[in-house]
Amino acid sequence: MSKSFAKKWPMQIALVVWAVLAACLPALAQQQAALATSSSSVHAIVAASTATNNAARSDAAAAQAAFNRAWTVFASPRCRNCHPSGDAPLQGEDGHVHIQDVKRGPDGKGVYGMKCSTCHQVANLPGANMPPGNPKWSLPPANMKMVIQGETAGEFCRQLKDPAKNGHRSLAQIIEHVSSDDLVGWGWNPGEGRTLPPLDRPEFVAAMKAWVDNGAACPQ
Ligand code: HEC
Ligand code: HEC
Repeated sequence: MSKSFAKKWPMQIALVVWAVLAACLPALAQQQAALATSSSSVHAIVAASTATNNAARSDAAAAQAAFNRAWTVFASPRCRNCHPSGDAPLQGEDGHVHIQDVKRGPDGKGVYGMKCSTCHQVANLPGANMPPGNPKWSLPPANMKMVIQGETAGEFCRQLKDPAKNGHRSLAQIIEHVSSDDLVGWGWNPGEGRTLPPLDRPEFVAAMKAWVDNGAACPQ
């Protein structure tokens, strides 16, 4: 089968196809970068990351140090509370199990009769101990839990890179997610009485980008 296929498609044709692709790819990358820079500064960081990816160095120690820095944010209550090891969200600075027997459900949006959106609105409700809000408020789905609770930096790093566990996302898509996803952004606008992550968002994105640009090695 592959032999007769090769006869019908001589090497010359393969070379022409390859040359056309090689000519188009840089143009596409440029267009993407231009689109990205036209929006927010966070997008500019992403564009810079995509552009430098071609020249990715491989410096394992620098990558591990950058990931350890980013991990301080992942491990903070604002991120960890929605990334539990079990099937209930966590609450508060101490990460206690969510009261009212709230459960993840297959899609992360709760179970029948106890949906997240019953209490969590599209924005934070004012006042201490009121439900925080976002249009997408939910846990990750049951088939992609993306667990932070109880993980070490290294364990979480390997989970984040594993296509089978991260929804088949590339490193560039992970950077895009932490840069511009709205739920991630909620971590820095969490409502009254909740602490902020230890780095601000641009510092966090810069650490993630440094991790990828240095070859994305995971801490032990
Ligand atoms: C309200 C709950 C909630 C909060 C708070 C939350 N997340 Fe998530 N997180 C989710 C959901 C839901 C998904 C799955 C999203 C998807 O598949 O698009 C997810 C997925 C992720 C992923 C995996 C996405 C990928 O591209 O592989 C990362 C990384 C992540 N969150 C980081 C964070 C960080 C960092 C914070 C804190 C600043 C945070 N999350 C806070 C609900 C939350
Ligand atoms: C019966 C109402 C109710 C339902 C249903 C509900 N929540 Fe909550 N949730 C609350 C309230 C109220 C708070 C605030 C508690 C506080 O600050 O003391 C809260 C807080 C949280 C927090 C803590 C945020 C933080 O960092 O401190 C997370 C995470 C959370 N809910 C996730 C969910 C998810 C995911 C669902 C659906 C699977 C859900 N909740 C369903 C009422 C509810």
